[in-house]
Amino acid sequence: MKVRLARALQSQGFGSRRGCILRVRRGEIAVNGEVCENPDAEFDAEGLVFTLDGADWPYRERAYLVMHKPAGYECSHKPSHHPSVFSLLPAPLVERGVQCIGRLDQDTTGLLLFTDDGQFQHRMISPKKQVAKHYRAACADAVSDAQLAALCAGVQLNDEPAPVAALAAERLDGRSLRLVLAEGKYHQVRRMVAAAGNHVTALHREAVGAYRLPDDLAPGAWRWLDAEGLSQLEQPWPSATY
Ligand code: URA
Repeated sequence: MKVRLARALQSQGFGSRRGCILRVRRGEIAVNGEVCENPDAEFDAEGLVFTLDGADWPYRERAYLVMHKPAGYECSHKPSHHPSVFSLLPAPLVERGVQCIGRLDQDTTGLLLFTDDGQFQHRMISPKKQVAKHYRAACADAVSDAQLAALCAGVQLNDEPAPVAALAAERLDGRSLRLVLAEGKYHQVRRMVAAAGNHVTALHREAVGAYRLPDDLAPGAWRWLDAEGLSQLEQPWPSATY
């Protein structure tokens, strides 16, 4: 696929069409290592790299990102009490409209996905697709067999017409458990654990589908997802995650 320079820059979140044309004409943009002053110059999208403001920026038709969400950040463009996770992303990604795929609570840590691909976002959050979300929860009290059985059989949550069941629930040590869910209802893990008779004191999302949060992604850091990561995300349950 061929793309025109100013239009491609705009699509990546580098400002208005007019602004991108001006920046190109001023010689501020290098393409694959060479300055190009023609806003209408055409390039192969495959492997295209812009250099601007001293940094390289690979062209991506769609953005798919993974972040290690730190505690104390809200998954909202208009946060009320804490900074926004969007403040941890470079401005062009926010400008091009990436959205969180499912929200994590302000104090939840772990795997958070972003995209500007609406169809992908829908596939990931639709309960029909049964994409597994894997959580590790620390609890106030010892996790009992009865609590694990209730979580798997289904617990009644306020405002839900029918009991909600986990795909899997397993004790990790005395006071922590792993819960795998197919949906992403509001405060779902905390509410389910409360309904089963315990209380979540800390929550971390460790995987989605068969994709695990990379060990080398520090809290607050993000990276692009590659094709392998994307296909792991969409792997149906039960998937070999651990
Ligand atoms: N369930 C919760 O209760 N909180 C989260 O952040 C995610 C799932």
